[in-house]
Amino acid sequence: TGELAAFEGRIAIVGSGIAGLMTALELAPEPVVLLTKYGLGLGTSSAWAQGGIAASLGSDDSVGFHLADTRAAGGGHCDERAAATIIGEAQAAIDALESWGVAFDRNTDGNFALGLEAAHSHRRIVHAAGDGTGVAIVRALARAVAATPSITVLEGADVRRLLTSGGRIAGLVGKQDGQAFSLRTTRVVLATGGVGGLYDATTNPPENFGQGIALAARAGAVLADMEFVQFHPTALALAKQPLPLISEAVRGEGALLVNERGDRFMADTPGLELAPRDVVARAIGAQIERGGRVFLDARNCGVPFDARFPAISKICRQNAIDPTTEPIPVCPAAHYHMGGVATDLSGRSSVTGLWAVGEVACTGLHGANRLASNSLLEATVMGLRVARDLLSSPIEPGRPSLAKSLLAGRILLTPESQKVRRVASRHLGIVRQGSGIEEAIATLLPWAEGFSPATDPATVGLLIAVFAHLRQESRGAHARSDFPNKQPVGDRTMLTLSEVLDLA
Ligand code: SIN
Repeated sequence: TGELAAFEGRIAIVGSGIAGLMTALELAPEPVVLLTKYGLGLGTSSAWAQGGIAASLGSDDSVGFHLADTRAAGGGHCDERAAATIIGEAQAAIDALESWGVAFDRNTDGNFALGLEAAHSHRRIVHAAGDGTGVAIVRALARAVAATPSITVLEGADVRRLLTSGGRIAGLVGKQDGQAFSLRTTRVVLATGGVGGLYDATTNPPENFGQGIALAARAGAVLADMEFVQFHPTALALAKQPLPLISEAVRGEGALLVNERGDRFMADTPGLELAPRDVVARAIGAQIERGGRVFLDARNCGVPFDARFPAISKICRQNAIDPTTEPIPVCPAAHYHMGGVATDLSGRSSVTGLWAVGEVACTGLHGANRLASNSLLEATVMGLRVARDLLSSPIEPGRPSLAKSLLAGRILLTPESQKVRRVASRHLGIVRQGSGIEEAIATLLPWAEGFSPATDPATVGLLIAVFAHLRQESRGAHARSDFPNKQPVGDRTMLTLSEVLDLA
């Protein structure tokens, strides 16, 4: 094993999406090692983000309105303090990104051009390069990182295990170009993204199956809200994976959802095409389930399509679809994970020395269903906060001071063998059912055995399944056909991997 002795003791950041890049930049000139599986920003969901960043910057908007929309979309499950804090720091996040060279789109009057997305009461989506916000931000931040001497980037570095000693972080081990390496450090920041790769249909890079969650789980970290997986309603319905996103901003500009008969099936739903994402995804899923097809008709958009959505226009045309003259075929796809490593508002996990930031983390901001464009906001705000915490505080990281609720119930196991994606897609998708969830647990439990890098996808799938089993209600993105109603109070579930295994 090659020891990275030269970097011993440095803060290690794992992942190079917006959360990891922001953290590294804000830590400068504190020396850090940034470990990234591919190249800076490559293979990250951040770079694929289209819509933008939610910030209440319009003259008729306010933090209060943004907070109310976040709460409503979140199904009564948002952590109030997290939501108020993160949304309250949106302006600072936009300022920070601009200071690193991100050029957001502006109107001719010089003000930000603000887009609209589902479940937002106001136009508040700050975007760049039309529908290329993610790539514009990642490029600017990656350029800034490359020009920052205190940040050492290790490309091609796949972190396989976190080392602990006496329950604290002591380092990490991984592989780079097939060679094993280890790094001794007492401070690790996970910024590894989400779990879309656990599903057949996803808008995420398919290799992102929740590695960071598995690393943290094996190190003993508390995980929260793992059952809440968000499906984006409108991925481009292609026969290949991953599925390109057709941003909600297209519906924000007036595009309509129709089925193969041309019926506008959202017409009777409050919010119409701009109802919360979980509601629209289930409505589309139901059309497809009955053998129908769904299209996004953008022919009457209120904006010139190709100029406002250049990336989407390109991808449609590459697939022989002209969005200005014909409806776009769409389907739901796994898009974002609201759950993850439980953290406080400094990004501290329950394991001393381990921070988590961005999609891998669960601050509680998103509740049961994330409001559109609150993800890049959280990644940016929390990147700044994690960095400041690392720089300023000698206080020992501890278990997050979030109420822990362990829901009771033993799990029935019926062994069966399938691939993790097939299991997750079949049983842990848009609508779930108790017996399917139990089947998922029974299948995934033996596959997860050994808890090694090889079994990480099964471990993350198992965690989602057990959390889904425990939540006997329908709330936000977690819909159960056997428990169709919301309970009056839906406590957040927080468990470690070993507590999850005790339940099985
Ligand atoms: C989109 O552009 O529709 C995605 C925005 C998001 O996931 O927040």
